[in-house]
Amino acid sequence: MTKKRQLLYLLALCVFSVYINGCTRSQKSKTEFIPGEIWYDTDGNPINAHGGGIMFYDGTYYWYGEFKGDSTYRLEWVTTWECWRADVGGVSCYSSKDLLNWKFEGVVLASTPNDSTSDLHPSQVIERPKVIYNEKVRKFVMWMHIESPDYEKAHAGVAVSDSPTGQFTYLGSFKPNGGDSRDQTIFKDDDGRAYHIYSSEWNKTMYIGLLNEEYTQHTGIYTRNFIDMSREAPAVFKHHNKYYMITSGCTGWDPNVAEIAVADSMLGEWKVLGNPCVGQNADSTFFAQGTFVLPVENKRDTYIAMFDRWNKTNLIDSRYVWLPLTFKKGNPVIKWQDKWKLD
Ligand code: GAL
Repeated sequence: MTKKRQLLYLLALCVFSVYINGCTRSQKSKTEFIPGEIWYDTDGNPINAHGGGIMFYDGTYYWYGEFKGDSTYRLEWVTTWECWRADVGGVSCYSSKDLLNWKFEGVVLASTPNDSTSDLHPSQVIERPKVIYNEKVRKFVMWMHIESPDYEKAHAGVAVSDSPTGQFTYLGSFKPNGGDSRDQTIFKDDDGRAYHIYSSEWNKTMYIGLLNEEYTQHTGIYTRNFIDMSREAPAVFKHHNKYYMITSGCTGWDPNVAEIAVADSMLGEWKVLGNPCVGQNADSTFFAQGTFVLPVENKRDTYIAMFDRWNKTNLIDSRYVWLPLTFKKGNPVIKWQDKWKLD
């Protein structure tokens, strides 16, 4: 074979193996959770749904998250902290029946590259989107953290849709109860009431506000919790009529120790129980930060604690750390597992 032919042959082989790899990757279905590994969707692309949350609707799980742009840069003019960021690509949605194999349903709240004045412009920040279904008005309601590039804006944003896979219509953003709203989540209780939980007062104090019947606005009923304790990244779930909330400390993209608190009512009072993570690297939350706790459907007392392992210099490559949350002597415990299955 001439040198030229050899090269052509090699090139063809490479193209073929990339193609075959792509195919097999997309066809192989996942059978276990592998925390921290790249998680591919059913098309073979890494899942891009950071700071996310899950909604179960009509037999399907929907995972919503931050759809990050693929280049990360640091805003040098922000000197008080390491402001690493990626352009905002909107909010993505993936669907699954088994929580392991996720189909990309698209970007369900799109960014607006042509409107530099919009909250949804790629230069702004959309974080920690969460969606709940409102049976009364038959709408899917999304709440999210809306920011300016330097994180000084501290707004909550709201969007609604008739279908879980969008498109969501953006209603706008505001400061709930007149104060900051940064890291946030929403929680829908069994009685149909929904709450917005958000870090306020420059992240010093966690606010919990009752939402109106449409879930699109606050009612004005709210409480201040963990006063001056600087907690963020709230993730709430209910177990045996008690409410639990996992939070992190405030160290930007860097990990710190998680804390879990318990309450008899969503509006408080909340009692701190301590770090739910145990074992090696428990003090850095397994190098991750909480975002959501999912009660698994039809499996009593089965919860998945969802964390983001941020990669601050390459944010799109931040990984997902999902671990079982169990109860030991009445206390919530999250233990590292290299690999695990739901049963
Ligand atoms: C974290 C927060 C993340 C993101 C990051 C920016 O504290 O939980 O969602 O806002 O700060 O540095």
